[in-house]
Order: sequence, then C-alpha cells, then structure tokens
Amino acid sequence: MSLPTLIESDRRHLIHPVASYRTHEKRGVTVLERGNGAWLYDAEGNELLDAFAGLWCVNTGYGQESIVKIASEQMAKLPYATGYFHFGSEPAIELAQRLVDLSPRSLQHVYFSLGGSDAVDSAVRFITHYYNAIGRPGKKHCIALERGYHGSSSIGSGLTAIASFHRNFDVPLPTQHHIPSPYAYRSETPDDAQAIIARSVQALEDKVMQLGAKNVAAFFCEPVQGSGGVIVPPRGWLKAMRDACRRLDILFVADEVITAFGRTGPMFACETEDVEPDLMTIAKGLTAGYAPMGAVLISDAVYQGIADGSRQGEAIGHGQTYSAHPVSAAIGLEVLRLYTEGGLLANGQAQAPKFAAGLDSLLDHPLVGDSRHVGLLGAVELVANKTTRARFDSSLQLADRIFEAAYRNKIIFRAFGDNILGFAPALCYTASEVEAMVARVRKTLDDVLESADVRRALND
Ligand SMILES: Cc1ncc(COP(=O)(O)O)c(C=O)c1O
Repeated sequence: MSLPTLIESDRRHLIHPVASYRTHEKRGVTVLERGNGAWLYDAEGNELLDAFAGLWCVNTGYGQESIVKIASEQMAKLPYATGYFHFGSEPAIELAQRLVDLSPRSLQHVYFSLGGSDAVDSAVRFITHYYNAIGRPGKKHCIALERGYHGSSSIGSGLTAIASFHRNFDVPLPTQHHIPSPYAYRSETPDDAQAIIARSVQALEDKVMQLGAKNVAAFFCEPVQGSGGVIVPPRGWLKAMRDACRRLDILFVADEVITAFGRTGPMFACETEDVEPDLMTIAKGLTAGYAPMGAVLISDAVYQGIADGSRQGEAIGHGQTYSAHPVSAAIGLEVLRLYTEGGLLANGQAQAPKFAAGLDSLLDHPLVGDSRHVGLLGAVELVANKTTRARFDSSLQLADRIFEAAYRNKIIFRAFGDNILGFAPALCYTASEVEAMVARVRKTLDDVLESADVRRALND
C-alpha cells in the first residue's frame, strides 16, 4: 500500500490504544517502518532517536540478530504448543526456570500471559482463588496507588488510577481502593524521605483498618510508577510497604512490568531493597517487545493454597491459548542471555549516571521544575512556576505540542498529559546517544518556549 492509502485505511479501520479517536482521525497515523539499535525510521524516511524503547519495552534495542535467528528457528521447529492437557514446550519450561532462578527467592511458580494487563488480571484471579481456596473468602478488597498503572483489563483497569482508564468504563469496582503515591516533588516534604515513606505506610494501614484486615486481599504497586509520570519513591519505600503488608496480613504484589529487566539497574527493581513479593507481574522487557509475553510469578504459599484448594482432579480454570507460547519463550530466553552474558544490563548500569546527569542538566531550563530518575528510567516535569510548582493550564495542550516538536527534532519520548516528559532509553544506548537524547530534548523545550502563549503562561 502507498503511504497515503495506509493512512486512510488506518483512519477508517484501526483503533489505536489510549488515543482520542477523533483526534487520531484528524491527525492520521505516523507509520514506523524499521528500527536499528536505538534508532527508528518512519515511512517518510525520518531517522528518529527512540528515547522510550518503544513503549518502555525494547530494552535490547531494535535489530538484535540473535533474537531474530532464535525466533525463526523456533517457528520452523514448533511454532505453537498448547500448555493445556498437560502439554508443554522446552523453551517455556526453561524460561520459567530461568525466571525463578533470577527473581526474588519468594517467587517459585510462573504463569505466562500475553502481556502486562493480563499478567495483572491473572494475579487478581489467582489471589481471589487463593483466599477462597484457603477458606478466607472475605478477603476481596485490593489497594493500589494513586497515579498507578496496572493495565487496561476489565479488573486491572480499576487498580490503575488514571482518569481516562476509568471514565465510562465503570471502574474502579467497589473492592478497589487507592492511597496517595510517594510523589516527592508534589509532597509537603520533598526532601524528607522518611516522612514520605511514613505517610505511605500510614495511608496503607489506615485504609486496611477502614476496610477491615479480614476483608483486604492485597496491595499492588509499581516499584517506580511509570505511566503515572515516572514517580521514583525514596529508597526504603518499597521495603517499608512490603513489611507493612506482612504486618497487615495482606499480599504484596510488585508490578514490575516496566521496572524489571534492567530498566532501573538490576534485573528486578525489588532486588535493590531485597524485597520478596508474594506475587510479581512482568512483561515488556521479558521479550523486549520482539513478541508478546508477560508473566505472573507466584510464591509457593499462594501456589500451594490454590493447588490444595481444588478438589481431587478438578481443573483450575485459568488459561489462554497462547500462555507459554514457545516462540515468545525462545525469544525471552535469548533476551535474558543478552541482558546477562550479552552485557546489556551492565551497559544500562554504566550509562545510568550520564542519563541522570543529562536529565538534571535540564533543570536550568525555564520550563523544567523537576528531574527524577533511577537506572535508565526518568522524567522531567514542566511547571509554569518553579517556586510554587504550578502546572500549566491544560488549554495550552503543551504535551501534544512538545511531542510534535520532539518529532521535528528527530526524537521520541513520552509527553504525559500533565506535562511530565518520560524517558526510557534502550539498555544498548551509547554515551553519545545519551548526549544526543539530552541535546534534542533541550532543543525541543527551546522550540516550544518560542511560542508567545507558552512564555506568557510562564510569567503568570
Ligand atoms: C506497571 C504496568 N503494569 C501493567 C501494564 C500493562 O501492560 P500491557 O500494556 O502489556 O498490557 C503496564 C503497561 O505499560 C505497566 O506499565
């Protein structure tokens, strides 16, 4: 198809995730054609620096030949094997073993999903099943964080706390609750880590008390909140929340869909604080976006509770045709090899200080109020007034304008609705690519600042 035909066909038929359908119809699609390393090429021949690893997933970068080879070999050998009827495939079994070996000690069992949303949904189903099976059916309420993102499944979208995922979708459910996130920049005590941690723990305790511990099943959180604006909690926060869950007798679920696989430095963000969750959801970097796959990792206690709860021979009715898909699993194994033996995790760790310094260097820009980062995950937050931290009026549509200006400067990153710019470069980034990223972001901010209405908003 020619490019104009593609654009017209897309406009008529293809529904895009998390978009205003009317805006998309007017704007039209941007067709991406190929990728190599940290670089993307669109159908008009533009070469773009991808500073968001696709959608925080292509951690290996594009064009990794060894992944392509292994995927095509697996496709030729066995493109599909069901996990039903007690069947399985070698790559899926090996990947489950590798994940158990690499992840926190508490996690011993793996259920493979197709992505993050259904990993979260599987977690919710397993937790529900577990408490019913062990004779504590009252434990139905779940608590998550404001600004959290846990996907867009029917149930998981209610754990998510982003307005557009709730509006007209009839969530959150009455059993889904949110407590404030550890958002240092917007807290009363931005520099007091202990106070931020104490407030989160207190909020969780208060919510559990209010609902009654016997009615609360679990607390879900991202170790670093991604889609809510890259909210990096103070060191010690994750451990404190984990410990609180133990005291409160509720399950602790770490949603590491973004933070796993080197994104924050180590293989899993939980490692940084030696946190052992009861369940952990992963996706994205698991296959680095080369094929769809996610997983929920489960503690032995939860697994045994479910297993023993089913009467002799009765099936646990949770499954998907493509659970433990052998091609995705083979890709996952090769991606894990690239992270470890291939040196990608080490490269990501080596680039992190430069990435951090680069984002911090933007703090002198008139539009930038905050810079936050961990590993190769970061954000800068734009504000109308650096002293009061006042946000820009939404009528300016600053985020859209920044995204378009960034594209003209040949860089892609995430421009969130509330003017937080998110960055998640691939772990294969070189030092000069980090420099190019920062330079292009600064140029983008300068370009946007040339508009009189933006300058006026700043002076307000
Ligand atoms: C923390 C978290 N959980 C779940 C999801 C949902 O994953 P998916 O988009 O693969 O369904 C995402 C996606 O960004 C995520 O960031």
